[in-house]
Amino acid sequence: MKIAILREAAGESRVAAIPETVKKFIGLGASVAVEKGAGEGASLGDEAFAEAGAAIEDRAALVADADIILCISGPDALGQTKPGALLIGALDPVRRGEAVKVYAAAGLEALAMEWMPRITRAQSMDILSSQSNLAGYKAVVDAAATYGRAFPMMMTAAGTISPTRLFVMGVGVAGLQAIATGRRLGAQVSATDVRSATREQIQSLGAKPIFVDNVAGIEGEGTGGYAGETSDEYKAAQAELVSAHIAKQDIVITTALIPGRPAPRLVSDAQVATMRRGSVIVDLAADAGGNVEGCVPGETVERHGVTIIGARNLAQGLAADSSALFARNLYNFLAAFWDKDAGRPVLPDEDEIVKAIRLTKDGKVVNERLLVNA
Ligand code: NAI
Repeated sequence: MKIAILREAAGESRVAAIPETVKKFIGLGASVAVEKGAGEGASLGDEAFAEAGAAIEDRAALVADADIILCISGPDALGQTKPGALLIGALDPVRRGEAVKVYAAAGLEALAMEWMPRITRAQSMDILSSQSNLAGYKAVVDAAATYGRAFPMMMTAAGTISPTRLFVMGVGVAGLQAIATGRRLGAQVSATDVRSATREQIQSLGAKPIFVDNVAGIEGEGTGGYAGETSDEYKAAQAELVSAHIAKQDIVITTALIPGRPAPRLVSDAQVATMRRGSVIVDLAADAGGNVEGCVPGETVERHGVTIIGARNLAQGLAADSSALFARNLYNFLAAFWDKDAGRPVLPDEDEIVKAIRLTKDGKVVNERLLVNA
C-alpha cells in the first residue's frame, strides 16, 4: 500500500503531509513517498520527510504505482496511475468538473474532502473548518498590517490612542477566530450572523452581538450547521442595521457563505462610502462572489478611501500550520476507514462520509451532487 504526496502547482504553498502523518501512515503499515520539493512552501525540506521514513521521488515514479495519492488542490491530470487508486484532496468538484471527468476516465477514485459532512464523527477530518479557522486569524492580522492605526487603546505621554472598532459579519468557524484574534489584539469587536445560535458564541468571546431583532433569521443551526437564504424582509432589516453600524467601524471582516449559492451581499458601495478613510475591509467570501460590493477576488482595491481586500485562500499564507492541520485531516479520514487485516482503507458504499465525498469510481462520476448538476 503506497501513499504518494504530490507537490502542488505554483501558487499553492501548502503540502498534504507532514513528517508526523508520514510516520503515522507507516505505523498503519503503508509505505509513503513524497514528490521532490513538495514541502518547500511549508518550510519542510525533503530531508524532513526522508527522516520520517518517506521515499523522495519525481512525479512519474511517485504516482505510477501509488494506491493513494494525497494533494491539497486536485491536479489537472496525473499521467499514468494505477486503476482504482484513491486521489484525495480539496478537489473543487463544481468549478473543476472537467478535471473530475479526467479522474474518472483514468480509473481513479477521487474523494473531495471539502464535501465532508458536518457530523460529529467527521469533525477531525473537516478541512473546511481547519483551514477557515486559520483564515479567520490571518484576515485580522492582514487587516492590522494594512490599517494605519493601532488596534489597542494606548494611553501615552503624547496622548491617548482609541481602540480600533472591528466588525465581523458571519460568525462560523472563520468569524469566531476573527473575533477572538481581534479581541487579543485589543480591538473593540462586534459581530453579526443570521443564525441566532451565534449570539451566545459572540458574547462568550467578549464581543458585542449586532442582530436583527424584529424579523426572524435562521433559528438554531440551520441544516448541517449551515445558513440558508433569508427572507427579503430580513435582508432589508439587516441592511438598515448594518448601515447604522458600519459607518462607525474601522475594520470589517466578512465571512458569510451559503452552501451552493453565491455569497450574500452584505455591504453596499454606499455603505463603504460612509466608513472613515483608511478603514480596511477583508472579504473572505471573495471567491464565492463576495459579501462586499466592489470586492475583487485575489486583489486589494480602494473605494472611497477604504481598502477592500478580496481574500483568497488565506490559510496558505500560514503554510506550515495550515499544511499540518490539512495533513492531519487526511490522516484522520484514512485512519478511520483503515482495515488492519486488509492493510488498506475500506470505503463502504453506504457510509455517509463516503457517499458525500466520493466523486468517481470504476471509470464513472458517481457523486449525486455532480449527477444532479450534470
Ligand atoms: P459558512 O462558512 O458556511 O458560513 C459562515 C457564516 O456566515 C455562518 O455562520 C453563516 O450563518 C453566516 N451567514 C450566512 N449568510 C449570512 C448573512 N446573510 N448574514 C450574516 N451571516 C451570514 O459556515 P462555517 O464557518 O462552515 O460554520 C457554520 C456552522 O457549522 C458553525 O456553527 C460550525 O460550528 C458548524 N460546523 C460543524 C462541523 C461539524 O459538526 N463537523 C464542521 C464545521 C462547522
